[in-house]
Amino acid sequence: MLRALTVAALAFSAGLTSAASPAFAAGDAAAGEAVYQSACARCHRSVERIVPLFAGQDASATAAYLDRFLADHKAPDASSRADLIAYLLKVSGL
Ligand code: HEC
Repeated sequence: MLRALTVAALAFSAGLTSAASPAFAAGDAAAGEAVYQSACARCHRSVERIVPLFAGQDASATAAYLDRFLADHKAPDASSRADLIAYLLKVSGL
């Protein structure tokens, strides 16, 4: 899983590094925190255990990876998923 993320990050760094996806830029990190509390925290009690997975990764590649992964992992709604991703990127410092 992490290897796939690294490959995606390398592919993105070939030219799209600074092009943040508008779909994720539209996400609301504050709303995303509430989504995390209701949809994720019962299994991932602390977000601090998740964010190290993304530290130092490319933000666009991480957002794209999370969008794919979370669609099948407890965040099926595209709008609240965008908010959640904005929150995860923010707490990851990306
Ligand atoms: C029912 C329990 C449960 C819920 C709810 C849940 N997760 Fe998970 N999550 C897991 C388990 C178990 C794993 C490890 C196995 C796997 O990858 O599916 C995991 C793995 C992950 C990973 C690591 C993926 C990787 O790259 O290996 C991330 C990121 C993650 N979850 C985020 C979330 C987010 C964000 C939410 C809320 C939308 C969420 N999870 C909700 C149980 C849960």
